[in-house]
Amino acid sequence: MTMITKLAAATEANITEAGEIIRAGGLVAFPTETVYGLGADAMNEEAVRNIFAAKGRPADNPLIVHVCDREMVDRVCFVSETAKKLMDTFWPGPLTLLLPKKECVPEVTTAGLPTVGVRMPDHPAALALIRESGAPIAAPSANLSGRPSPTTAQHVYEDMNGRVEMILDGGDCRVGVESTVLDVSKDVPVVFRPGAVTPEMVAAVAGNCTVADSVMRPLKEGEAAPSPGMKHRHYAPKGTMTVYLGSAEKVREAILKEYPLRENTCILSHEDHLKYYAGMNVRPAGKDAMESAHLLFSLLRQMDEEGFDRILAEGWELKGEALAVMNRMARAAAFDLRECE
Ligand code: TXA
Ligand code: MG
Repeated sequence: MTMITKLAAATEANITEAGEIIRAGGLVAFPTETVYGLGADAMNEEAVRNIFAAKGRPADNPLIVHVCDREMVDRVCFVSETAKKLMDTFWPGPLTLLLPKKECVPEVTTAGLPTVGVRMPDHPAALALIRESGAPIAAPSANLSGRPSPTTAQHVYEDMNGRVEMILDGGDCRVGVESTVLDVSKDVPVVFRPGAVTPEMVAAVAGNCTVADSVMRPLKEGEAAPSPGMKHRHYAPKGTMTVYLGSAEKVREAILKEYPLRENTCILSHEDHLKYYAGMNVRPAGKDAMESAHLLFSLLRQMDEEGFDRILAEGWELKGEALAVMNRMARAAAFDLRECE
């Protein structure tokens, strides 16, 4: 199905119109602090089915339900003590909590799972849209399945023109990678997908927190994914990508050795290392892990546009807030991580 897509600034009038579209069962892409979402009324089975169709997303991958207040949370799921503490601390913000769902949430939304992922986004346009719609909004990232998540309205337009009624433009997304997905069903919370809310931050509130070990490695043949999203191929640029880890000097040595081997190569460099790659195809990829997260998806799209078939990326030490960007880089590189000694 193709339709005319309206690309519009996230003004009050346009948000009102977007709310009407959602209430009528249509699709609206909207900005959040993490990435753009592709939204529909989470309680409307038909509308949610259309999200999967528009993205080309496998039906076994559940959607996150976005809420604007605590009353809406209670409409869709049962909230534990730990979950409540985490909401009080991190909402609105980039934290998705997996909680037992209530009857009224359609099976399509949760891909048949007994839990629902809920989050309150930290973006005024997103919150206003949910409020206008009067319903929780189910929204995956607004990219075609297999493309990097969109961090600008232009990215969304590239992927979704003709597939959604409206795209609300709220500018650049502040965080740039998707929310932390946290399982809070057991005594100790488990991070299924790392994001800007780190395991350390969760532990400071919940007393403890672990990270699913499939976060930094590919699933083994036949291994069950803790979160369905992990088993699907993700964020893949057309070029073959390698991520280098270790001391700055050793990483540089390895990249300089690899660079001449293929003609159409580009380096993603820490900003303060640019000088070492003078005269080569190189792009600044941030001065720290947070900025790197902000830039990564945009850079990956750019690599495709410029037609690079080899991408050599300087990684970040695997700890704290770097876990989120390294998880995405590892996936983009099909887990080709080189430890440089
Ligand atoms: O920041 C974000 O989370 C963005 C913005 C739009 O809010 N949304 C987003 O949605 O990244 P999506 O659909 O691209 O990723 C949701 C991830 C998937 O990996 C999915 O498998 C997992 O969350 N997930 C959702 N509900 C789940 C559930 N009930 N149990 C386990 N994993 C779940
Ligand atoms: Mg996604």
